[in-house]
Amino acid sequence: MIDIHTHILPGVDDGSSDLQTTLQHLRLMLEKGVTGVFLTPHFMRNMFDGNPETIRKKFRELKKKVKAENIEIDLYPGFEIYLEPGIHQKIADHKLSLNGTKYILIETNMSGFTRELPQILYDLVHHGWKPILAHPERYSDIINDPLTAEELIHKNLLMQINAGSLLGDYGRAVQNAAWFLVENGFAHFLASDDHCKNPVFNLDIALNEIRENIDEHTANLLSVINPQKVINNEPIEYFYLKEIREKKRGFFSRLFN
Ligand SMILES: [Fe+2]
Repeated sequence: MIDIHTHILPGVDDGSSDLQTTLQHLRLMLEKGVTGVFLTPHFMRNMFDGNPETIRKKFRELKKKVKAENIEIDLYPGFEIYLEPGIHQKIADHKLSLNGTKYILIETNMSGFTRELPQILYDLVHHGWKPILAHPERYSDIINDPLTAEELIHKNLLMQINAGSLLGDYGRAVQNAAWFLVENGFAHFLASDDHCKNPVFNLDIALNEIRENIDEHTANLLSVINPQKVINNEPIEYFYLKEIREKKRGFFSRLFN
């Protein structure tokens, strides 16, 4: 498993408060089978205005510490970027992408997409960025009409579902939206969005639910195959479900012929 969305870099945002909590969490993740983790603190104006250079320095320090402690997990740098007009330039200037690739993890207003959003997204894609929308299932626009996610994928957005959403941590409406996205092939990643608020890690639990309710391939795609493509800056398929359905149809036609 590779987790592309976490807040476990200590003391930089509303995630992990200290190094001990971070190390404890990484050990727990290792036990659960995580091999790689992106550290994605919030980049949000007027809230978490940590200097990206300072955050990168803290990232390098943590990497050394994790190696010294023999915790065998690969750490990758990144940010969860709150959208605002002109953000495409800030991403370039401050090097905010995931592991230095063209992929970026983005978030926006939960209680309603703003009028500026289409232009901001257009600017991002136009400048060559490959946006991954964090927890689409938590946005009111998508809860009210989950097919909004499909429209966004047509505009070259990739979707990252939170493990906790599938498990019901944010309530029934978010849970329903999350399962709709996964079941219909409108999900490209499953991640923890771990804020280290309790000593629990749920990515493996949600993946098991996907294995049971959908299939092994989807679980693998969302937690291993696509995250590895981000690390390598390789293209990711926006619409992939046809392939899976064909496989299933193949299975059933073999069964009935
Ligand atoms: Fe987050």
